Amino acid sequence: MAILSTQTLIASSTAVIAIAVALSVLPGWFSAKLLWFYSETRCYVSVTTLSALNNATAECITFNPAGIVTAVFDDLISYPIYKAGTRYGYAYPGLWDGHGHLLQYGEMLQSVNLFGSQSMDDVLGKISLYLDQNPQVGTSTEWLRGIGWDQAAFGGKMPTSSELEDDDSIKGKYIMLDRVDVHCVWVSQAVLNLLPDPLPETPGGEVITTPGPGVFCDNAMDLVLKYFPKPSKVQKTKYIKNAMKDLNSLGIVGIHDAGVAPADIKLYEELVEDKDWSVRVYAMLECEKRNTVCFDDAFKVTRDDGLLDVRSVKLFADGALGSWGSAMITPYTDHTNSSGSLLVNASTLTDLTTAWATAGYQINIHAIGDLANRLAIDAMSAAFDVLCPDAPRHDCQALHRFRIEHAQIIHPDDQKRMFELGIIPSIQPTHATSDMVYAETRLGPQRTEEEAYRMRSLLPVNPVLGSDFPVEPANIFQGIFAAVTRRSPHTGLGADGGEKGWYADETLTLEDALKGFTLGPANAAFLEGKAGAIEVGGFADWIVLDEPLDEMDIDELRSVKVRETWVGGKRVYRRYDKSVGY
Ligand SMILES: *[C@@H]1O[C@H](CO)[C@@H](O)[C@H](O)[C@H]1NC(C)=O
Ligand SMILES: *[C@@H]1O[C@H](CO)[C@@H](O)[C@H](O)[C@H]1NC(C)=O
Ligand SMILES: *[C@@H]1O[C@H](CO)[C@@H](O)[C@H](O)[C@H]1NC(C)=O
Ligand SMILES: [Zn+2]
Repeated sequence: MAILSTQTLIASSTAVIAIAVALSVLPGWFSAKLLWFYSETRCYVSVTTLSALNNATAECITFNPAGIVTAVFDDLISYPIYKAGTRYGYAYPGLWDGHGHLLQYGEMLQSVNLFGSQSMDDVLGKISLYLDQNPQVGTSTEWLRGIGWDQAAFGGKMPTSSELEDDDSIKGKYIMLDRVDVHCVWVSQAVLNLLPDPLPETPGGEVITTPGPGVFCDNAMDLVLKYFPKPSKVQKTKYIKNAMKDLNSLGIVGIHDAGVAPADIKLYEELVEDKDWSVRVYAMLECEKRNTVCFDDAFKVTRDDGLLDVRSVKLFADGALGSWGSAMITPYTDHTNSSGSLLVNASTLTDLTTAWATAGYQINIHAIGDLANRLAIDAMSAAFDVLCPDAPRHDCQALHRFRIEHAQIIHPDDQKRMFELGIIPSIQPTHATSDMVYAETRLGPQRTEEEAYRMRSLLPVNPVLGSDFPVEPANIFQGIFAAVTRRSPHTGLGADGGEKGWYADETLTLEDALKGFTLGPANAAFLEGKAGAIEVGGFADWIVLDEPLDEMDIDELRSVKVRETWVGGKRVYRRYDKSVGY
């Protein structure tokens, strides 16, 4: 024991002296070699850097023990071990999801997956099977959770609580199931029995009563959530760790977590100290009570290692298109009585935006409908006038980088304003391909053509691309496929069931789609130069693929499997491949 520590002492003091001597006395090339000694280098068949700083492609990446890239270069004879032939793989910058929900994703990984269910029997069968495997859930203290139902699978009729009582294995359980867009919940009779009668009014929400009770949408979900037994700290910790592991396996190194309660950010702060925190999280703070000012609970976080960042806030203007909840300037084409609803009125949205912006928070407003997008832009404009009374609004935006989450349906006049101001749209390409089957019915042809789910048109304002996991699968290659083809990554087909992409004028090039999942999120999170590219001074985050993306058939993008994922110079995921032996 004593001998060992003496040796360690001698070794480390020798190293310190050697570094000091090298840095002060020896010629530059020698100190560079010494630094190299403490650093690590990985070489690949090619490295796509996406960097404006160094070459677009290279072969090797050197990074230091702090997980920062120190060199990006072509192979030198000094790295014989990596000479061609023994090298494998194509490196790309680590992928970022510009809009997802970490805790909910972890929770989903431990719930009934109802995505793609074809009928009520199908749904009941999946729940029954889940209960067989997880007999402990469904009690008053641990409700059975599920996500992914869509009334389209029930002939367009909303589901009811009583239907969950039809199956003997499910009957009597506490159940809460999220709609595919997470803007409605469907609950069992046991949960319904907890609610007051009559139910209080919920502006901005809808309690569904036809064909029967059981579904609550938008603000009305709060009626149910009030009784939902909150997951314990232990459960949440498990959600986060499982989610990170899963995201790493998809090549994801960072996410924008689109709405995290202050108490959960406290938990993140604790967990980020663990070595298995392996995804960079740029979290948008969301007050315990949605659309409020909560400065007493709010706080910012920055860390040198870049593993957790909090400096933005999430506000909500409206609900989702699927449930006619998004706020429109003129009524829905298939619901001529309704233009959806705002979750807050224009003056409240402006007050909230100005209050948070003045406190130094980046503003991220959820806006789907064209009225919601218009009011979000109004609110941001008003905040610019307070933040930068003497500067053009465009310059103020460049400094504060306000963004609109989803930015789904935007009136042409407002698209123009967005460009003038430079407001960042945060877009989910798979929302476009999931919604394409009904969007035109809701919106009519003209609005769809001029306003809806734009991607290429919005390129000038640096879009951020994301998936909105768990609402959509977290696989970014599916998002890239959706952006590049405007066809469903699940079927490979367009809205009409054929090869034609949906409003294909709005497709992105492969490069722009990749940038939307790397450089775009880096910019929208104030992380340019650190994330989104492989470059000197940036985080040593990258992924390794078996084949270069631009040589794949478009269809292959749907099923790309990542070989390795690196975060801060640590390999956080490696796919074991028997045939290759590593
Ligand atoms: C680009 O690559 C060439 C060849 O490897 C190298 O000489 C040059 O220094 C590189 N440029 C930058 C900016 O890294
Ligand atoms: C429109 O509203 C009227 C009155 O509220 C209602 O009777 C009618 O069913 C509604 N129509 C549609 C298409 O929702
Ligand atoms: C907007 O909503 C707030 C809060 O609900 C309310 O106090 C205010 O009067 C409303 N303003 C307008 C113009 O409707
Ligand atoms: Zn979201």
